[in-house]
Amino acid sequence: MDQLTPQTPPKREGLTASFLMSDNPALQDLMLRPSINDSARVNEQKIRRLYLQASSQQWFAPTKINFEPNIQVDEETRRIWIRFVTIFYTLEKMGLNVIANMMPKASSKLKSDEISYYLSAQCFDESRHVFVLENYLKKLGAPVKYDYKYHVLGQAASMGFYRVENWLFSTLFSENFAHAFLRRAKVANIDPLGAEICKSLQADESRHLHFLHIVLPDIMDRLNLFGRTYVKSAQFFIMKFTEIVSRSLENDARFVGLDRRAMMEEVFENIERAYESFGVTRSFLPFPKISSTVN
Ligand SMILES: [Fe+2]
Ligand SMILES: [Fe+2]
Repeated sequence: MDQLTPQTPPKREGLTASFLMSDNPALQDLMLRPSINDSARVNEQKIRRLYLQASSQQWFAPTKINFEPNIQVDEETRRIWIRFVTIFYTLEKMGLNVIANMMPKASSKLKSDEISYYLSAQCFDESRHVFVLENYLKKLGAPVKYDYKYHVLGQAASMGFYRVENWLFSTLFSENFAHAFLRRAKVANIDPLGAEICKSLQADESRHLHFLHIVLPDIMDRLNLFGRTYVKSAQFFIMKFTEIVSRSLENDARFVGLDRRAMMEEVFENIERAYESFGVTRSFLPFPKISSTVN
């Protein structure tokens, strides 16, 4: 099982080594210490550090990724990657729209300005992902289109009661899903540009998971029974929807060397482990069965 980077706490040395101020403890203290805020509902010190890490790891797509060479693959492989990348593009674009909408609500609900700092960096990550995938689709010779079939996921993830909590828990699923897909896609039968894109995006998604591992335990602690039940129902719907939709992709996935079932199992296992670390178990969050039926 792949050990996700975010499950390991960040190392101070790893972070500061890349900073110009690494030889200046007073300056580090100035930058890393949040302003006093006794009402924050999250660990602001950890979030501030992650914000600085996210800022220092920003990359510029046109120079980081070589979009120049043409993609040389057979027609069937091209058709399948166009199909998968269109779905992934849709999910990333939905994620971008949702994070832009939820940022102010999250910082207000969690009473933390550090959340605004961090989420603005993550929002920029997501815009970069959409930008990169849009250009990859163009290189594949495909139209760039948002597939409204998946739009309901964004709505389930950010509406209703407890919308901030619901969104953050939904993100635990979507970021884990993105991470597992990218990790597998980059070593599947994909062209070099696709592999490079998957690698670059995966590093960002690891950081997004790290953020959730910082904030979700505190959020879970504060949720009352009704809130937990509400969040639980939304999570089950999102996982069930994804499991059902992914069944129809099984044959295409196999053709390019992706194992859909193994990927879904990996996602569910990672989420279960995350929930266990928040002090809840499978009895809190039931997981949908992963079907072997191919539609
Ligand atoms: Fe993303
Ligand atoms: Fe993300």
